Amino acid sequence: MAHVLRALELNGCCILEDCGTSQEAAAALPARIFGSPGLLGSPAPAEVSEQVLAARGIAKDDNFRAHTDGHAYGDKFPDYFLLLCSVASDVGGGNFLIDGYALLEDLASEPDTAWVPPALAERSVNQTSRLPSVTPVLVFGPGGRRALRCRLPGPPMAFAAQRVSEASETPDEDAKMLAIYHEAIQKAADRAERVFLRPGDALVVDNYRMFHGRDPYTDPRRLLWRCWIWTTASRGLPEVPENELQSTPGNAAGIVQPDEGPSKRQRGE
Ligand SMILES: [Fe+2]
Repeated sequence: MAHVLRALELNGCCILEDCGTSQEAAAALPARIFGSPGLLGSPAPAEVSEQVLAARGIAKDDNFRAHTDGHAYGDKFPDYFLLLCSVASDVGGGNFLIDGYALLEDLASEPDTAWVPPALAERSVNQTSRLPSVTPVLVFGPGGRRALRCRLPGPPMAFAAQRVSEASETPDEDAKMLAIYHEAIQKAADRAERVFLRPGDALVVDNYRMFHGRDPYTDPRRLLWRCWIWTTASRGLPEVPENELQSTPGNAAGIVQPDEGPSKRQRGE
């Protein structure tokens, strides 16, 4: 899988074909891609479907705006994730990806916004409504690897956007920084190419570098498996017992918990 790692290094994401469509197939992928020395943790794949996500406030009709995954884990969010497509929707459901590093370069190259990238690494903002995390948008991993977080104002409305910290002494400047950052991301999302995963396709994403989102779709049977992945190049595993690590966001009460259990369809009924 050295070619996959090279593709991730170069492009921040890649698609692997013919990976199977089952939860077991998804569970095998992180070790296949990153190998055992490189893999720190990869909890069981979680179901990405209308059935599971609607209960978490994410509907298929939502235009799921650009974000990074794993805000539930604060600044120890997973450095990679993958989505294995099991059932595609014939209409809609395109995923888009935005290169966050390129976006920082674009902001730095414009006189009006050149102050924003350094500010993103210095000014702490409120990152999430789940685990308390008041840290800069841009933090760093081993070897200075840049780790960006992104959460635009909804939809889905279940997720809070990155926002000015209640403790900020410079709330106006922080608000301006976030507004410029989010506006640049939304513009990039509007013009981003859409990726339509087919059954057996696995989309692997550098979650420190890339932002992603999803267009609305029509088929309620659409199903993907999500794996959150922590590697040795990440900022480390969250401080929870490894067997309690999940590939799912927190619920409305802020608790990170597994899915409710396989759906009837998954049990083959
Ligand atoms: Fe996501």
